[in-house]
Amino acid sequence: MTALSVSTSSAASLRADAVVIGVAKGPKGIVLAPGAEAVSEAFEGKLAEVLTTLGATGAEGEAVKVPSPAGLKAALVLAVGLGEAADAGYGLETLRRAAGVAARTLGGSKKAALALPAESADEVEAVALGGLLGAYSFGTYKGNGSAKEPVGELVLLTVRKGSKDAKAAVERAVVLGEEMNRARDLVNTAPNDLNPKGFAAIAQAAGKEHGLKVEVLDEKALLKGGFGGLLGVGNGSANPPRLVKVAYTHPKAKASLAFIGKGITYDSGGISLKPAGHNETMKCDMAGAAAVFAAVVSAKRLGLAVNVTAWLALAENMPSGTATRPGDVLRMYGGKTVEVLNTDAEGRLVLADAIVRAGEENPDVIVDVATLTGAMMLALGSRTFGVMANNDELRETLHTVAGEAGEQSWPMPLPAELRKGMTESTIADLANMGERMGGGLVAGLFLKEFVAEGIDWAHLDIAGPAFHEGAPFGYTPKGGTASAVRTLVRFAERTAAGDKA
Ligand code: BES
Ligand code: MN
Ligand code: ZN
Repeated sequence: MTALSVSTSSAASLRADAVVIGVAKGPKGIVLAPGAEAVSEAFEGKLAEVLTTLGATGAEGEAVKVPSPAGLKAALVLAVGLGEAADAGYGLETLRRAAGVAARTLGGSKKAALALPAESADEVEAVALGGLLGAYSFGTYKGNGSAKEPVGELVLLTVRKGSKDAKAAVERAVVLGEEMNRARDLVNTAPNDLNPKGFAAIAQAAGKEHGLKVEVLDEKALLKGGFGGLLGVGNGSANPPRLVKVAYTHPKAKASLAFIGKGITYDSGGISLKPAGHNETMKCDMAGAAAVFAAVVSAKRLGLAVNVTAWLALAENMPSGTATRPGDVLRMYGGKTVEVLNTDAEGRLVLADAIVRAGEENPDVIVDVATLTGAMMLALGSRTFGVMANNDELRETLHTVAGEAGEQSWPMPLPAELRKGMTESTIADLANMGERMGGGLVAGLFLKEFVAEGIDWAHLDIAGPAFHEGAPFGYTPKGGTASAVRTLVRFAERTAAGDKA
């Protein structure tokens, strides 16, 4: 993992392979962003001209390299685009993305100095986090030397180094960067190397490392407890399901949060098999579990004054002679029965068990995170997750908090009339499928059936943003993104601060 340090050195005198500055689109050509002053001086005021000649426009995502003149210790200057020039300061997401572009571009080098705008503590955090996330690379399966090594060390240059708030900002960035990158690793790991048992073992090891209480229900315990959803989905696989509880408690906590993650380590669709073209990325179907796991570990490392319990609903959805059939009826944890009409609608089945189980502990809020429906991708595209809830205020809060954390989300309704299709003309209490139209909302309505009276519940459908298939951008690599982790952590912080959930 890339190391991060903070320095008040001048960008001219710091020894590094490259120094990174920001450039933006001004009314009359490109302008240099705050932080670039010392570099600009070394170019004797000609830097903007040189960059323009090299084609720089200041557009977001742009990265232009210039050899350094005498007077700079670093051999290379990398100018990253910040979009429109902003006299009042650049947005935090702009800074995160610019730092991400820089770290990504400088993969393979040993040490880079970030001379981007970093005057406030929030800016320091944004640059630090963007840099750490952009430096991510997943080399597990690449042969020796063929994977591009991430940049070895990032030195964030800021005048603010000594201040207490800047220290906290850097600590937060390091915790989030490490835990998000860990979540990305889990998502990117091939499904033959990460099954429910293996994921549970990873959670146990992390629990030991960080002092979290971890309990694992194996298939025997699930059978004894009556977890029909998890068992029904896991039935077709040689790798049996697990329900993992990871608990963080704080002595001064005034509220308890339950974060529940869909953890389908591979979703083939089961007997309702997915066709080719729809199953190649289905190792990402445990991204919700990875997110809630990263969030609870982050809460612990940041010492937040709130209780957080993560529930990982882990199973592998496979077709076989022992698999659940379309037409089977499952008895879920808590007693409700579900007719499985489509075994590819498996996420709601494992989540339902976990929601009932989590509800028994009476948390103030339940938030589940799931790569739940293709329909949500159709509705919102691949970068925005949907937010549903049984409480309007909570839905708005999560949407707001996501935006503050730099994640794109959108509030979605749970229209009562869509519930009908799941409850009518079935031999069981519910069917796991309803109307096709509004499929993402139908899935949300299904989950809502399992939330105990009096508990505020929200559902984040991250099917779009969990796994990035296009070209890398900003701090987002191809593959696992760690979607929802920042939203959950910020929500926990907000709850700890006593803001109404
Ligand atoms: N894991 C999928 C949803 C998904 C699709 C996630 C694409 C990420 C990318 C989920 O289990 C699923 O198969 N959902 C079905 C539900 C349908 C059968 C009601 C879907 O969306 O097609
Ligand atoms: Mn499925
Ligand atoms: Zn799935």
